[in-house]
Amino acid sequence: MNAKPGPVSVADFDFLSPEVIEDPMAANAAARRDAPVYQLPGTSIFMVSTYDLIAEACANPEAFSNDFGSLLEGHARDDAEIASVIAQGWPQVPTLLTADPPAHTRFRKLVNLAFSPVRVNKIEGHIETIVDGLIDGFISQGRCEFVGAFAAPLPLTVIADQLGVPRADIAQLKEWSDAVADRLGGMLTRDQQLECAHKIVALQHYMKAKLDERRAHPKDDLLSDLVHAQLADERPLDTAELLNIVQQLLVAGNETTTNALTAGVLNLAQNPSECAKVVADPSLIKGMVEETLRLESPTNSMWRIVKHETVLGGVTLPQGSMVLLRFGSANRDAAKFEDPDRFDVARKNAHMHLAFGRGIHSCVGAMLSRKEMTVAFRRLTARLQHLRPAADNDFKHYNNLLLRGLRRLNVEFDER
Ligand code: HEM
Repeated sequence: MNAKPGPVSVADFDFLSPEVIEDPMAANAAARRDAPVYQLPGTSIFMVSTYDLIAEACANPEAFSNDFGSLLEGHARDDAEIASVIAQGWPQVPTLLTADPPAHTRFRKLVNLAFSPVRVNKIEGHIETIVDGLIDGFISQGRCEFVGAFAAPLPLTVIADQLGVPRADIAQLKEWSDAVADRLGGMLTRDQQLECAHKIVALQHYMKAKLDERRAHPKDDLLSDLVHAQLADERPLDTAELLNIVQQLLVAGNETTTNALTAGVLNLAQNPSECAKVVADPSLIKGMVEETLRLESPTNSMWRIVKHETVLGGVTLPQGSMVLLRFGSANRDAAKFEDPDRFDVARKNAHMHLAFGRGIHSCVGAMLSRKEMTVAFRRLTARLQHLRPAADNDFKHYNNLLLRGLRRLNVEFDER
């Protein structure tokens, strides 16, 4: 934080700096108080920080467009080497996250078909088996690095199983998925962008082969559902569209849930009295999941592009400006959540958080990740006790403007 002596104001923070990305809480509080719609100095980026204004922007996709895919191109547009790597894959067509209606409406309906509550409910037992298997892997050691031992493999295994990808390929998938998340984070050097381009093209070729297999031999998995999903009188998804959707499911289904699981365990470890409440009454886990999502907000921010001049919170946003919706800030807005920085597993309105966004782009995987988190915390609190952070933690987060998560977390515990 670049705080000067004296009262801290929004202008004292460099919101794109690694320091504020690491610890955005004081900066967000200053933004909510001083300038809920704040133009970052020297940029055409307007940051929105309060709950009500973010909800207002999400409810108005006509003015606030999600067609920000080109922002993710970074150096690729004018770098011949990166462009030639990308040309070996399929075009990044805008589908869910980066599409506007009417195209978005079609994609969303098709993915909803494949991503049904029936499919999510059906796999609860399967999720529990994965969860217990992962806990078996570290429980006898009395400590673990939680991200690597549990929080990363759980959602990755669940989504890989759902996409019908062999478990043997999961580590590779994780590497590719990280590359897409890094690109989304927008903090890459030119060389890192080149490396990411190679990985994303490799992911595309891998998934194209899987799609072809499912087209010829459908199975009971999400990938087969996607390949064959079709609305009346409309064509099915083509390869570039399918690849973009699978890429989004993979990244959104991994990094975010990993980060939420890690944050949840840290909250429990740092708040033994709240942890004891959950142990005494496991029906509180549902609320604890919402409280974790609220406090950590793994999708901490998301872009919008202003389609036509619009006024938000009394500020005129010119056409073409970039808007950064700070979901993480909305979720700690004292106007909405009492004593917002406190971890309270019984908080009545925790579920009102914007961690899954709101409106037409609200998270398609919300039900799946809630299910994973609920099962995970149920089994973790049932099997581990005296959960505590180990002494050797640095509590460092990824340097990612959009996705928030701890890089690693060492925890200690006793077997129950
Ligand atoms: C804790 C876990 C998760 C969090 C915090 C999260 C957060 C979000 C947020 C905030 C949005 C809205 C973005 C916007 O308004 O532009 C979103 C959209 C999306 N999420 Fe998630 N997500 C999570 C898990 C998942 C999972 C498990 C999947 C899929 C397997 C998924 C897939 C998507 C997709 C495809 C979209 C775009 C939807 C659209 O534009 O219609 N997410 N997510």
